[in-house]
Amino acid sequence: MTEARATIPATLIPGDGIGPEIIEAAVLILETLGAPFAWDVHQAGLAGIEAHGDPLPATTLASIRSTRLALKGPLATPSGGGYRSSNVRLREEFQLYANVRPGLTLMPGGRYDDIDLVLIRENLEGLYVGFEHYIPIGDDPHAVAIGSGVNTRAGSRRIAEFAFDYALKNGRKKVTIVHKANIMKALTGVFLDTARDVAKAYEGRVEVDERIVDACAMQLVLNPWQFDVILTTNLFGDILSDEIAGLVGGLGNAPGGNIGINAAIFEAVHGSAPDIAGKGIANPTALLLAAAMMLDHVDRHDLATTLREAIDGCLNVDGIRTGDLGGKASTKEYTAALVRRIKAA
Ligand code: NAI
Repeated sequence: MTEARATIPATLIPGDGIGPEIIEAAVLILETLGAPFAWDVHQAGLAGIEAHGDPLPATTLASIRSTRLALKGPLATPSGGGYRSSNVRLREEFQLYANVRPGLTLMPGGRYDDIDLVLIRENLEGLYVGFEHYIPIGDDPHAVAIGSGVNTRAGSRRIAEFAFDYALKNGRKKVTIVHKANIMKALTGVFLDTARDVAKAYEGRVEVDERIVDACAMQLVLNPWQFDVILTTNLFGDILSDEIAGLVGGLGNAPGGNIGINAAIFEAVHGSAPDIAGKGIANPTALLLAAAMMLDHVDRHDLATTLREAIDGCLNVDGIRTGDLGGKASTKEYTAALVRRIKAA
């Protein structure tokens, strides 16, 4: 007799541009897998403005507050109109302090084979807090620009503990702390000192290593295989995670998870791709890999593995790929091929 499993309420945000197309693919794939999610569909981004006059409508926030779990399509931030990025607002609202960005070679024969690392970025502090102002001199109102970063001991401890716990839970051996404490002695010094302190509690279980961010950027290109888990601050994490996406074939395959105290939100790293929206050619892989992270998050590693294996088989055995990966398949054809693989698994 099969054991009945409870469904898990989760918020679904189709988003803008190619968002609804790739979300439709993800919902079908998750249904085929028998994933436990019961979707509560809400709008955000431009779709949120159209429906409710707000890129982050109160009903969407209320849904995430209740489900504490979301799968999200890309959200376009309208230029002008004074709207703040919905992604930043979501991070702040739900204290999504950890951004988890795996970098995994999906298709052998590219620039680098066998890359398998994870970058963990502090998502709320650092130089992205937006404490900026100008000082006018003479008739130049922007003669001097000043920006301050904020790193707290508590925030650094929280993200460092997250990274070491993540390493333990996921069978990873080493955490590399990436900083610039030789120059920004206070701002990234507190991050480095705190992370070193946290590392002591994991001695014998997780190895610790350190890099200055510029050296890390170079070493990622020369020898990315030396890294396992990279732990870093907000700005450095933003830059290095795109570098890592570039190592493994671009943003089309890069998923991300934003994990916090009050919620976890999974998404593709890419944006709404307005240039190809509505054409039926978007690659849903990054969002599907985000859905696999979401399955891991709710401890359905079995389904996450089936999904990752289906993607691998489809791309590398069947050779069915969307145009951005050099193939000819439409979003629907690629999705149908994945459904066949999952059903045959
Ligand atoms: P983008 O990632 O949307 O597009 C960059 C290029 O990659 C385009 O040529 C696009 O066609 C292609 N591309 C992206 N995803 C693809 C996919 N799944 N399949 C095939 N091709 C794909 O970046 P862009 O143009 O800078 O941003 C567009 C909008 O997205 C902006 O409003 C931006 O603010 C927003 N954005 C939202 C993010 C989020 O919600 N997490 C992240 C990044 C950008």
